Amino acid sequence: MVSSKIGPWELSVFGQRLSQGSGIGELMDDLGHALAAGGDKVLMLGGGQPAHIPEVDALWRARLTEIMAAPGELEHVLGNYEPPAGNTALRQSIAHLFRRTFGWPLSEENVGITSGGQAAFFLLFNALAGRFPDGQQKKILLPLVPEYIGYADQSVGGPLFRSVRPTIERLGDHQFKYCVDFENIVVNDDVAAICVSRPTNPSGNVLTDEEIARLSEIAKEHNVPLIIDNAYGAPFPDVIFGNATPVWDEHIILTLSLSKLGLPGTRTGIVIAQKEVIDSLASMTSIAGLANGNVGQAIVQPLIESGEILRLSAEVIKPFYQRRSRQALAWVDEHFDDALAYRVHKSEGALFLWIWFEGLPITSRQLYERLKERGVLVVPGNYFFFGLDDDQWKHRHECLRVNFTMPEAIVKEGIRIIGEEVARAYAAADS
Ligand SMILES: Cc1ncc(COP(=O)(O)O)c(C=O)c1O
Repeated sequence: MVSSKIGPWELSVFGQRLSQGSGIGELMDDLGHALAAGGDKVLMLGGGQPAHIPEVDALWRARLTEIMAAPGELEHVLGNYEPPAGNTALRQSIAHLFRRTFGWPLSEENVGITSGGQAAFFLLFNALAGRFPDGQQKKILLPLVPEYIGYADQSVGGPLFRSVRPTIERLGDHQFKYCVDFENIVVNDDVAAICVSRPTNPSGNVLTDEEIARLSEIAKEHNVPLIIDNAYGAPFPDVIFGNATPVWDEHIILTLSLSKLGLPGTRTGIVIAQKEVIDSLASMTSIAGLANGNVGQAIVQPLIESGEILRLSAEVIKPFYQRRSRQALAWVDEHFDDALAYRVHKSEGALFLWIWFEGLPITSRQLYERLKERGVLVVPGNYFFFGLDDDQWKHRHECLRVNFTMPEAIVKEGIRIIGEEVARAYAAADS
């Protein structure tokens, strides 16, 4: 229940929206408590935690050792405020990396650092959409849901999202893929921006080059930005298993993050956009938090400067997650009864399998509860379908997100139990 008070004090609209918890906040708390109570016995397939890849962790350790050994560097990293848009040398290195890799006409003025991708979205969404001085309520158009749950509760004003159902392409007996339903994309005056994650959390979908080109054209035509959330994308961390060309243009706001590279604790996000967007992000950062953390910026600076980050992503991080994805899919094949009505979204990137149980006789939330009873923690799919007017779409209660970054034995056993519980649910409905 959202309260209008904090202790004895009344809350503002901002306070009521942000300080009183959220659906996903409760769920994450629930996952955390279940994990604490269950200890080692809980199979945690629920969070968005990246894996600890030994070679990658070793690199962070080596970089911190270098920083400590270099005269004055540790003191600079720990003891100085950087400008609110981020460390200038790092911004130059990022601009240079993208210029030489993709030919984009960038300088450091097109690059801004934020306290994680999440903070970048909070600032961008609320700056571009929400309540306007003339009373209008503008929205962020999500052309394809399910979409990243982390966006859902970020509004400081009224409702922030308008989402569009995708079309579903059924592939063989047990696979599917979402596609943007361009027939149903309408950009009215109340659309302030279009936003997609690519690869998408939760489904592992990667919008095709053609879909991105069409969205980019639509955005340009309507004079709104296209925000592309590249938290898992190329060129780093490159958790993307097929071919997808990264794009940027003056009307595109591209966000990246160091989190899925293995540095979520440093809270470092990167935004690539036209200069005015970077200036306004810097202004908001200085007002809300003065500056960003320095540690992640300092760790990756020489890796970005030298291009080593591209090798690390392409040769270590991508193959690691691709292997994990293939293994998880093989375990689904092995443990799910072939006669079950299940389909797994084509795993094209990110850290999750997204499983659809068509005609599931219970809701995904009920399935989540049953799995939790059995010590398996997943995220029920309904949380990822926000911003839709249509509450009747059964599909939104038929999906689960399963993280495959945990140790192999945990993922395998978790998948086996999911198969068993789902078979039980279908069988009970039949009898
Ligand atoms: C699609 C997507 N975007 C953005 C984020 C935010 O990540 P961070 O704030 O750690 O950079 C996440 C985190 O899981 C994500 O999955």
